[in-house]
Amino acid sequence: MSETKKTGQTVQTTGHAWDGDIQEYNNPIPRWWLWSFYATVIFAIVYWIFYPAWPIGHSYTPGVMNTITYTVNGEEKTTHWNTRALLVRDMQTGEAAVKQRKHMQEVANASFSAILSDPKMIDFSSKIGKVLFEDNCAACHGMGGQGVVGLFPNLVDDDWLWGGRTEDIQNTISAGHIGFMPAFDKTFSEQQMDDVTEFVLSLSGQAKDKERVARGKVLFTGEGGGCYYCHNQQGTGIKSVGSANLTDHIWTIADVASQKDIMAKRTRVREVISHGVNRTMPTWKGRLSDEEIKLLTVYVYNLSGGK
Ligand code: HEC
Ligand code: HEC
Repeated sequence: MSETKKTGQTVQTTGHAWDGDIQEYNNPIPRWWLWSFYATVIFAIVYWIFYPAWPIGHSYTPGVMNTITYTVNGEEKTTHWNTRALLVRDMQTGEAAVKQRKHMQEVANASFSAILSDPKMIDFSSKIGKVLFEDNCAACHGMGGQGVVGLFPNLVDDDWLWGGRTEDIQNTISAGHIGFMPAFDKTFSEQQMDDVTEFVLSLSGQAKDKERVARGKVLFTGEGGGCYYCHNQQGTGIKSVGSANLTDHIWTIADVASQKDIMAKRTRVREVISHGVNRTMPTWKGRLSDEEIKLLTVYVYNLSGGK
């Protein structure tokens, strides 16, 4: 070590010199830094004693923190402190879990009208219902329940194939449904197909050819086509067979609404009549609990504005 003069002060240097006169000061590490360093060392040692830390063979030091007790398959299990057991215990007996179970129990015991008149229960059902919907239903019906024309029905509008009362929706989700209509391509001649198509369009006021409509009506409402059997005489649909209402402007399979001219509309309707419909809404009973189906029912019911 040697000493060098720096603007009138004396400072220590390490004694090394480079290039003849470049020297390194020997300043001490700041006190605060040194003490923080000692503190971290002490913290580490205390941590090793209290928490699981050092590996030993196939095991490790468990630490002396309080033990955690939780239940596995109905049996109580006590282990040394660790975050995984802590999480399991929180999910079983934590404040949030207990609260959620309490809400779940309330919803399970309440009637739909009671749930729908209680903002707190609606709020709870919608929150949990949304997660359930995104996990189980959104793949087909879309994130917001908007559906895909031709494939999966829209759940946001207030038009229902199988009924829009809470009981109907609950039954749809629980038991599932098959939307079935036979193919008529072998039954009808070309002209009959044109006629019945025109009649279907007339039901929503979109037909152009009165004579076709008149002939089509005979097919639709009589034994020739037998459409009335599922769609009823007025074409308004029958909820118990999930047939579409053909008199409104909502189309779930034949994408008529987005066609501009009559030719394109006819093509869409004709396609459905010739190919028929066969699509399945899966059964959820057994895959979801009764409470979960109930929450989903409230969620779906509210998607359509509760109509
Ligand atoms: C594999 C695709 C698929 C999944 C997943 C699915 N659905 Fe469906 N859902 C359908 C189809 C297809 C229909 C139409 C059935 C028909 O044509 O009658 C339908 C119909 C419905 C209807 C009746 C609509 C009406 O107008 O009456 C409701 C309500 C419904 N689904 C709710 C749900 C809920 C809630 C879930 C999640 C638990 C779900 N769906 C999951 C395919 C699916
Ligand atoms: C066995 C019952 C059944 C018979 C018979 C039947 N339908 Fe259907 N029809 C259905 C069902 C179910 C749907 C589809 C509902 C759904 O899943 O969206 C449907 C859908 C339709 C649609 C599409 C509606 C839309 O919203 O896109 C048209 C058009 C239609 N039917 C016309 C006819 C005509 C015309 C006949 C007679 C030639 C007929 N149906 C006979 C059950 C039937």
